[in-house]
Amino acid sequence: MLDAAGPQAARIADLWWLTLSVCVVVFVAVMAMFAWALWRAPRGGANTAPDIALGGERPLGWRVGVGIAVSSVLLNGLLVASVLTDRALALMPFDNALNVRVTAHQYWWEIVYDDPQPDRIFTTANELYIPVGRPVVVTLQADDVIHSFWVPELHGKKDLIPGRTTTIRFRADISGEFVGRCAEYCGLQHAFMAFDVVALSEDRFAAWADAQRKPAADPSGAAAQRGRELFLSGSCMLCHAIQGTTANARKAPDLTHVASRAHLAAGRLANTPQTLAAWITDPQRIKPGANMPTHLLPSDDLAALVTYLETLK
Ligand code: CUA
Repeated sequence: MLDAAGPQAARIADLWWLTLSVCVVVFVAVMAMFAWALWRAPRGGANTAPDIALGGERPLGWRVGVGIAVSSVLLNGLLVASVLTDRALALMPFDNALNVRVTAHQYWWEIVYDDPQPDRIFTTANELYIPVGRPVVVTLQADDVIHSFWVPELHGKKDLIPGRTTTIRFRADISGEFVGRCAEYCGLQHAFMAFDVVALSEDRFAAWADAQRKPAADPSGAAAQRGRELFLSGSCMLCHAIQGTTANARKAPDLTHVASRAHLAAGRLANTPQTLAAWITDPQRIKPGANMPTHLLPSDDLAALVTYLETLK
């Protein structure tokens, strides 16, 4: 959060540092006055009672007044700083923005890259690739319950609310990989609802997007072909889509280029053939409460399915 990769996060980090500084000064001042009060207070001894009367004190009124005035000035100062930060974030330019639609599901992220040309629209899951230096406008929706979209290095949190559309706008000024999180408790697997944000140079981003737009290639090799047959004849296609095949369900992540992703199950697993096989076989052990059902396949069927999915680069 304090390692800002863009102007929005940098503004928020500035506000955080200001708030921290003011609070540290106030805390130290209050503790110093408290210590001073203890030190000068008349003590009781073994044989004398403590003197708790206000004898000799000047009237307290003006000290209380000063305390209220200082508190009001500081708190209102922080309020003004907060409003100014919000306004500055809202006024940042968003010309030539990349438009992305994100829908939160229990417990994964559907990510659709919009384009004025319909055949250039494509869908991924749990991976948000963005170009460095170009603003990104993310339209947020929720499919089931309230979730929250949070990439600490790029911006603050924004809730995704069923039946309501919101947007969050940010820009990455350095290339790199950032971790995104669901920041609103949404069910059993809330803690494992992560996504990867990858900021690339404009050229590399365009190359990535072109590759994602391509439908899945026809598999070569008997095992992969058998895997595709299993995918299209079994229960996989009831929920998942693979562009270029007859599978086009939208209930679960689009798998057209699943093998190109770094993680499986919204950041829960590194994406390897072994974890993919484990995930297909017993997702409820890995992510209890997720909507992916258990599939007890004969081992050669499982191997064929994994071989096919691994071709989906
Ligand atoms: Cu989705 Cu927490």
